[in-house]
Amino acid sequence: MSKRYTITAALPYTNGPIHIGHLAGVYVPADIYSRYLRLTGNDVAFICGSDEHGVPITIKAKKEGVTPQDIVDKYHAVIKQSFEDFGISFDNYSRTSAKIHHNTASEFFKTLYDKNEFVEEVSEQLYDAEANQFLADRFVTGTCPKCGFEEAYGDQCENCGTSHNATDLINPKSAITGNVPTLKETKHWFLPLNKHEQFLKEWILEGHKKDWKPNVYGQVKSWIDDGLRPRAVTRDLDWGIPVPVEGGEGKVLYVWFDAPIGYISATKEWAEREGKNWEDYWKDENTSLIHFIGKDNIVFHCIIFPAMLKAEGSYILPENVPANEFLNLEGNKLSTSKNWAVWLPDYLQDFPNQQDVLRYALTANAPESKDNDFTWKDFQARNNNELVAIFGNFINRVVVLTNKYYNGVVPEPSDLSLVDQETLAAVKAYPHVISSSIERYRFREASQELMNLARLGNKYLADEEPWKTIKTDEERTKTVMFVALQIASALGVLSEPFLPFTSKKLDTILAVSSSGVENSWIDISEKNILLPAGHTIGKAELLFSKIEDKTIQLQLDKLEASKKANEAANKTIEPQKDEITFDDFTKLDIRVGTILEAEKMPKTKKLLVLKVDTGIDTRTIVSGIAESFKPEDVIGKRVSVLVNLAPRKLRGVESQGMILMTENAQGDLVFVNPDTSTPLSAGDGVSNGLKIS
Ligand code: 2FM
Ligand code: ZN
Repeated sequence: MSKRYTITAALPYTNGPIHIGHLAGVYVPADIYSRYLRLTGNDVAFICGSDEHGVPITIKAKKEGVTPQDIVDKYHAVIKQSFEDFGISFDNYSRTSAKIHHNTASEFFKTLYDKNEFVEEVSEQLYDAEANQFLADRFVTGTCPKCGFEEAYGDQCENCGTSHNATDLINPKSAITGNVPTLKETKHWFLPLNKHEQFLKEWILEGHKKDWKPNVYGQVKSWIDDGLRPRAVTRDLDWGIPVPVEGGEGKVLYVWFDAPIGYISATKEWAEREGKNWEDYWKDENTSLIHFIGKDNIVFHCIIFPAMLKAEGSYILPENVPANEFLNLEGNKLSTSKNWAVWLPDYLQDFPNQQDVLRYALTANAPESKDNDFTWKDFQARNNNELVAIFGNFINRVVVLTNKYYNGVVPEPSDLSLVDQETLAAVKAYPHVISSSIERYRFREASQELMNLARLGNKYLADEEPWKTIKTDEERTKTVMFVALQIASALGVLSEPFLPFTSKKLDTILAVSSSGVENSWIDISEKNILLPAGHTIGKAELLFSKIEDKTIQLQLDKLEASKKANEAANKTIEPQKDEITFDDFTKLDIRVGTILEAEKMPKTKKLLVLKVDTGIDTRTIVSGIAESFKPEDVIGKRVSVLVNLAPRKLRGVESQGMILMTENAQGDLVFVNPDTSTPLSAGDGVSNGLKIS
């Protein structure tokens, strides 16, 4: 039965491009869900937009010396383009700087204000006297009162997800000047979450125990069990939506008050454009409202926004909030500030027209119930072993053989064997199987069922061997190819939510919509024939191509390089050591030597035992450079040696001097090399001082 759905995907902050973590956690699952609902005949409003207020944007603007408006204009365009490029099928992608949003959020605030739903309070807030600024949200960091994480923000701890007031932080520090904040009085409006505690308990803890994901339910329960407190919904900032009531001058709405209202304003904007009534999507009890978000957004979508909607009184509440956990990258947390990420514009440049490969790899490995790791090796395997070897291979064989044997015309089948009948019956079951997974927000499982259908096709062809029967049994071959074409046709439809670009290509290859033989999701279960005999398909086209090891290695190298560059940029320069006299300096006897022999010190990771010709003698020096150099790489090297250092025993071997080392700009250990063919280059970090190894 057709239903109405409002599907929202978290509004991304407009302070940078988006990366694979965003895609995996929020946008791909939301898109699969929305596409699926449309394909099954539902009325869907799939809504998103740029979150253009909030401190992260102000901070980025300050850092770049531009205005916040410059930042949001730039990244709104970049992000919107990425969503289009990756086939995220929003019905509307709006932005919170839009006039319609400012009006909607202001009105929402005024309604709650008029209904006395806020508590107005003068309280002491953190203040940075040097910057002349109150320290809200990301303008302040400190130790999380709940988990002890030392880099928690003023409004939320990204480690444990807790949402708190800035004054709750232990050892707060201004993110602007690094100063310890003082307290200063200011007036704000608070949403008394405690007042809504009972309703939240009944609605979520009793009402959604079974149908909400355990990770979401568990988090919400723990917050409610801890006791809810009033939360300020206004801020002393100059970037945001002005507080629209008396006394609100110079203050703006808290970004987490205005952003979720962005879902409503984006729906209004879309409805106006499409001639629809937006209230049907937000105020009709028969509409299902579903929020797709990452786990750090749970408190806002399950507690604060529902409390706002309830307080307003005329809105529906979310039916489900299928939040995902986090995606890591090659074993480390994705991080914008550390540039440990795969950015979507970069991916597209390196893998043009391969959006479906990333969509598939991220879905097959989605962090649905726990944090998961994205690795380039897994990406390669998903492509080569599944998309190429199973899905692409099946389609290619069917299309090539149909063209070769029958000039592209679907052949007339004769009697269906038991295997044929069983195969066609199995195909008919797939829409239900995949639907059931999608409807329970199990997108990984759903993507694997889709791949199982392609596996079924491959096995059928491998067992029935039309390339052999064509020589002996023409009628049987026609039947086999007919059955295989039905499977290909089903794959074309059922792949659409997951692989929209591939599905479109398949539509062209099988000449489906162009000749009016297209099928809906449910047709796959209900019709006996999807591609009728006599229908002419198009030519074969490669759907996926193998990704070579060297392509993957390039990505790994790129990550490593960006990590190193980031480490170098963030490296804290060691302070200068205590002053020495010229006499002290002249005591050092530094000579140029040549390494004659080198071997690893047994049972150690760091030590090499070197024989060095110092010009005076040949001596043994134990050097801690084994993690940076192999023995064979240093033999023959000319190096600087401190020869008059008192001998010292290391692991039983007497070391008679030291090799001088430093680090280059990339943080790699290098010899202080007297050889003019490899001089020290500018920026090689000599300011760190000589490292005695
Ligand atoms: O975490 C974020 O990136 C927020 N900008 C999400 C906002 S979701 C919604 F409520 F607008
Ligand atoms: Zn915490």
